[in-house]
Amino acid sequence: MSSRGIVVSDNDWFSSDHLFDQLYPENLRSLASLHWTPIAIAKEAMALLAPKKGDRILDIGSGVGKFCITAAQFYPTVQIDGIEQRSELVAAAQNAKARLAMNNTHFFLGDFTEMDFTKYTHLYFYNSFYENAIAQDSNVDSTPESADLFNRHNRKLYKLLKSMPVGIRLATYHSTENEMPDDYHIVAVGSDEELKCWVKV
Ligand SMILES: C[S@@+](CC[C@H](N)C(=O)[O-])C[C@H]1O[C@@H](n2cnc3c(N)ncnc32)[C@H](O)[C@@H]1O
Repeated sequence: MSSRGIVVSDNDWFSSDHLFDQLYPENLRSLASLHWTPIAIAKEAMALLAPKKGDRILDIGSGVGKFCITAAQFYPTVQIDGIEQRSELVAAAQNAKARLAMNNTHFFLGDFTEMDFTKYTHLYFYNSFYENAIAQDSNVDSTPESADLFNRHNRKLYKLLKSMPVGIRLATYHSTENEMPDDYHIVAVGSDEELKCWVKV
């Protein structure tokens, strides 16, 4: 498979972050080190989440889909969806997915607060609301980010997590943990301590 003159076989895209990020336009690629989950972290998060065949995972704030696409590649019998508020990032995720001809990941454009979490068995969350920096770092469209919105999103996520059934597993990467209800317990920490796996008890 070829992207912008690079010839790469499907599995090789996952051999390094540098190569994988070539799937995206330059202005989004340059955000990768700060804003998109590295391949090794995505693989480790999936190992901690330990989904079974037929399980469904939601990435809350999926960006260009790097977590979802990596997870979908290595767990072909699991459905991995992303919800993302910026149309440019959703379009980039859909293009990357199409290049890799994947059918077990889907990207929704919208606000996570309008998403039905109940059909998911596992969740992934990479510091999605602390994201003023995206607009500052690039020419990606900005959102009305503010301390107030940050707090409202955290409270809304707290309520959504609170409403999920006992046993739900959530992986967080660089979480402030303010959004975590008391009944979620850390059951594993990744090789990078910013990666944590939680279970609702
Ligand atoms: C740190 S990036 C993580 C991207 C992706 N999950 C990954 O790991 O590669 C956080 C993303 O959350 C998105 N986001 C922030 N608030 C959101 C909201 N209320 N609804 C949907 N997406 C949101 C941002 O636009 C950004 O793309």
